[in-house]
Amino acid sequence: MGIREIKSNIFSVGAIDWDRRLFDELIPLPDGTSYNSYLIRGSEKIALIDTVDPSKEQELVDNLKRLGISKIDYIITHHAEQDHSGTLPKMLKIYPDAKVVSTQKCKDMLMDLLLVSAEKFITVNDRDTISLGNKTLEFIHAPWVHWPETMLTYLREDKILFPCDFLGSHLATSDLFVTDEAKVHESAKRYYAEIMMPFRNNIKRHLEKIRSLEISIIAPSHGPVYNKPEFILNAYEDWISDKVKKEAIIIYVSMHGSTAKMIEYFVEVLIENGITVKPFNLTKTDIGELAMALVDASTIIVASPTVLAGPHPNIVYAVYLANALRPKVRFASVIGSYLWGGKMLEQITTMLTNLKIEIIEPVLIKGYPKESDFKLLNRLADDIIKKHREIIA
Ligand code: FEO
Repeated sequence: MGIREIKSNIFSVGAIDWDRRLFDELIPLPDGTSYNSYLIRGSEKIALIDTVDPSKEQELVDNLKRLGISKIDYIITHHAEQDHSGTLPKMLKIYPDAKVVSTQKCKDMLMDLLLVSAEKFITVNDRDTISLGNKTLEFIHAPWVHWPETMLTYLREDKILFPCDFLGSHLATSDLFVTDEAKVHESAKRYYAEIMMPFRNNIKRHLEKIRSLEISIIAPSHGPVYNKPEFILNAYEDWISDKVKKEAIIIYVSMHGSTAKMIEYFVEVLIENGITVKPFNLTKTDIGELAMALVDASTIIVASPTVLAGPHPNIVYAVYLANALRPKVRFASVIGSYLWGGKMLEQITTMLTNLKIEIIEPVLIKGYPKESDFKLLNRLADDIIKKHREIIA
């Protein structure tokens, strides 16, 4: 990435990963990502905020060398996940006097994950501070964004918040600060949807906490730095709010055309009735796009053929994921086709136990859709329209 100065004596020293396309062997990264690390030079002490993914270890080492850093006093380790902590062992080899500053839980995890020895740590409580001379680091515990050990750092004198994963975006860009707000909004929303959404209630509390700080810059551990903090804080407030949009998401798979025909018809009916609808054919879609759509939608429709007496396995995967992501959807229904029976409906609905949803009467048909089946789809569309009228915008 090279070295960029954010403010006097505060440098971005991390790495851009232009080519990474999958995270945790699960999450698509269509725009790559970055592993941001920051160096803060105080009048008496030097702190490094997080490290980088082990695959980019040399870039961090080289950046610190080029900055002439021969001693680091503190390595602030917000989060034990290896994309930020993975280069810690290397840093401790190069800077053996550095102390790792973390929560107690993060210390325990780093000892287990990276075999860092106990005497290397200074553990901090919520709102503890460390002085670098003319700069003060204040630590804010923020468990469950998205692991239980996480903390954030507020640099008081410069009013900079370092929130680690929180408020970040998987986006490889040469921009230090946000320039393309629409693009960053999309990447940050995708990041929230895939990683933070299951912890929406924790995020609400953390957001309230950081709203009490005076912040001029937010420097996350992924994606560009925010020099207009309101941009990302307002976006998060929208995503975590209890409000839903009058949108219907359809996730579907079709094997021999029956389900596809029903969805084609059903989408048309919804569009003609002015309902925003987003169909996701699971054989084509990027699962991250589906996660993003789940952030705001009020209604989810699951549509599947019957396979081995149950839903198609791709549907099982998507429904499992939707349930695990705990979106704030309020209504759900099932559309399906069978030829000789099965338990698709029960299997789908029993997988949605995390969601506080009302199930709208499903449409399950035998074989290819006939005139009477299209009428059932009209009824389902009417039910959705009525339910959407109940939503207070
Ligand atoms: Fe960017 Fe949770 O690691």
